[in-house]
Amino acid sequence: NNEVSPLEALGGQQVLDQLVDRFYTYIKEHDDVRHLFPDDLTQTAYKQKNFLTQFFGGPPLYTEEFGHPRLRARHLPFTITTVQAEAWLSCMERAMDDVHLSGDIRDYMMHRLTLTAHHMVNHTTSR
Ligand code: HEM
Repeated sequence: NNEVSPLEALGGQQVLDQLVDRFYTYIKEHDDVRHLFPDDLTQTAYKQKNFLTQFFGGPPLYTEEFGHPRLRARHLPFTITTVQAEAWLSCMERAMDDVHLSGDIRDYMMHRLTLTAHHMVNHTTSR
């Protein structure tokens, strides 16, 4: 069809890859989430690029290599509260600033990522 996919609207694979790289530099620096991630984020970033490509309407790169995403299940080994979800989203906001994403496409992406991040919450805060 002739519809422009979100992946195309955000600037294509090159911009998505830059976004993910910027995102993990902020994840590494964020006190609320960095303890959850491995020191070497090469494979993590690679998987996230592949996942977000398909999430935003590009080819199913993640599924071809790793199978069904089962994202909630894959996150169950990690304690994720709304604190971690908000931290994850704030790293994404900063990464979007860095690659100059704005307007409708940014709003659309943040909307879908916010829903997904809150779906990953698997523990409640005890306060
Ligand atoms: C993997 C944390 C939200 C997509 C991971 C890993 C951690 C993590 C610790 C494992 C990294 C590794 O061992 O390499 C979190 C936290 C989140 C969050 C704290 C806060 C809510 C999300 C969201 C998405 C996502 C919103 C998608 C939009 C992925 C993907 C993987 C992953 C695709 C790789 C799964 C695999 O094949 O192993 N995440 N994540 N995550 N995350 Fe998240």
